[in-house]
Amino acid sequence: MSLKDAALLVRENAYAPYSNFKVGAAIRSASGVIYSGCNVENVAYPEGTCAEAGAIAAMVAAGEQELTEIYVVASSPQPVPPCGGCRQKLAEFGKREVKVTLASVEGAEMETTIGDLLPGAFGASHME
Ligand code: THU
Repeated sequence: MSLKDAALLVRENAYAPYSNFKVGAAIRSASGVIYSGCNVENVAYPEGTCAEAGAIAAMVAAGEQELTEIYVVASSPQPVPPCGGCRQKLAEFGKREVKVTLASVEGAEMETTIGDLLPGAFGASHME
């Protein structure tokens, strides 16, 4: 299955009764496996989690810690970009040059990279 198909499929399972904005994310790990995640909202709004966070959690739970590509999709007039928090989460597990495809269910796609999404990222080197 393609990264796009995995993201579209998992998006169907999103739990988004408050925003009605379903998001799907699929990441390819260094071993080539695809992990996917959807947003999971909560009546206590800040407790909700993003699709990207779910996909990363699935990868880490499976024993992998490096992502090499990610695809994010929602139904939106424009391709959907990861929120600020998710940009930091992606930077934790992917190199700057990792390809990020932002997409809409309607078919629009935009390619960028983790580095371009989060210039000047805070990283482990800052704590040395
Ligand atoms: N959301 C994601 O899951 N990923 C994004 O990249 C953008 C936003 C979710 C969070 C919330 O459940 C809903 O979309 C509306 O913000």
